[in-house]
Amino acid sequence: MDACARGAERVAAADDVFVVAHIDADGISAAAIAALTLDRLGKKRRVGFYPKFDGDAAGDVNSSPESLVWIVDLGSGYLSSIKRDGVLVTDHHVPERNWRKGQTQLDSFNAVVHVNPHEFGFDGSTEISGAGVTYLVSRAVDPANADLAYLAVIGACGDLQDSKDSGLVGINREILNDAVATGGIEVARGPRFFGRDTRPIRQFLQYSSDPAVPGLSGDGVACSRFLEELGVEERNSDGSRRSWKDLSPDEAERISGALLALLSADDAGKVFGENYDVPGRARGMGDAKEFATLLNSCGRYDDAETGLGICLGEPGAVEAAKENRAAHRRNIAGALDYVKKNGLVRTRRVVRYFDSGDAIRDTVVGIVAGMLLNDGNWDMPMIAFADSDGGKKVSARADRSLVSKGLDLSFVMNAAANHVGGDGGGHAVAAGATIPADAVERFLDAVEDIVLAQLI
Ligand code: C5P
Ligand code: ZN
Repeated sequence: MDACARGAERVAAADDVFVVAHIDADGISAAAIAALTLDRLGKKRRVGFYPKFDGDAAGDVNSSPESLVWIVDLGSGYLSSIKRDGVLVTDHHVPERNWRKGQTQLDSFNAVVHVNPHEFGFDGSTEISGAGVTYLVSRAVDPANADLAYLAVIGACGDLQDSKDSGLVGINREILNDAVATGGIEVARGPRFFGRDTRPIRQFLQYSSDPAVPGLSGDGVACSRFLEELGVEERNSDGSRRSWKDLSPDEAERISGALLALLSADDAGKVFGENYDVPGRARGMGDAKEFATLLNSCGRYDDAETGLGICLGEPGAVEAAKENRAAHRRNIAGALDYVKKNGLVRTRRVVRYFDSGDAIRDTVVGIVAGMLLNDGNWDMPMIAFADSDGGKKVSARADRSLVSKGLDLSFVMNAAANHVGGDGGGHAVAAGATIPADAVERFLDAVEDIVLAQLI
């Protein structure tokens, strides 16, 4: 991509740089790639994290004293709020609609270099992440930065880009090849349930979902019996519980064979696929999806700096992140429980929704919405509301099967939010918005009209 070369020129020419990043796992990975790229060039840099590209972020970008602002995994949806020279955006969110393709070359060539897969006919929700785009620019700065590719794999997994095809596809595949070639990632085929590195093997099977394994999912006793029948010990000789990654190849093979026998061919294709090992890391960081969760556990709780610290190898960061992860797990479990116990989910014509008020943090309500979809509510988008400082935070999630029928939540959130005086954007499968607190019903009406039109 020529745009990557132009981005690299910007980086090379900068005196000092302000890196502006999203707070999720992809954003933190992207920030780490940008920071390491700059450190290797000996450039002075500072990093700021933002939950969304709102007025605060735009204000900080526009008033930053640095000669370059490098915005990663953010910004594309809000380009017109950037009013300064010396900006590089490496993002994969759907670009702002009225930002005409080519405008960067015409009106504001000096202002913004915009590197985004959507401008080149790629799908930013599956083929490359924000960390991936940032990595391509980093590699264009110096081919030796190929050793940062593993961070882009973690970013892509953090944005669930490996889920649709049970492995990474598109430009992510090329990035994966770099990560493997530089020893940052090893590809491991097998079941893709969450927790290969940290979950005891019984829970690894028990908490499987999307799709569920008949006779095992949700039934811990059955999982223990299953393991016993296969002659797989649940504990190591020192009494500690074994995870999937502790198993011998032969044990993993036996379990895989027995799982296959329980699954339809279609479901087997979803359960089995590629996993990405991150070799030489502490437990909890040895699997790309779990590494991404560790980063999310920091970023979604105002501690993205610790996530960045892990990626930069700062001492103490891993321990701090593990505390964040324990809190994140409690929070998510509590939030799911809260929604279910209180029967909050309502069904309208074409969407399901819930309003958690102030009971769920606005930064994790989207994760909860996604988990409720995984519980089997695949036929309608899930729209979640949470109280936030600027009004109501909205998170929308949908199954990819709806996207293949024409649903685009990024458009839905953007248009419905604008209709009620708010802001929104994101991806076709996962998007968000902020709207005035009293506009929920009108917003939902608009959401339904647009979803209906898309799914006709
Ligand atoms: O917060 P949540 O995880 O639901 O966000 C989903 C996606 O929507 C993110 O990629 C985020 O950048 C985007 N979003 C947005 N504008 C908002 C809120 C979220 O573009 N106001
Ligand atoms: Zn992203």
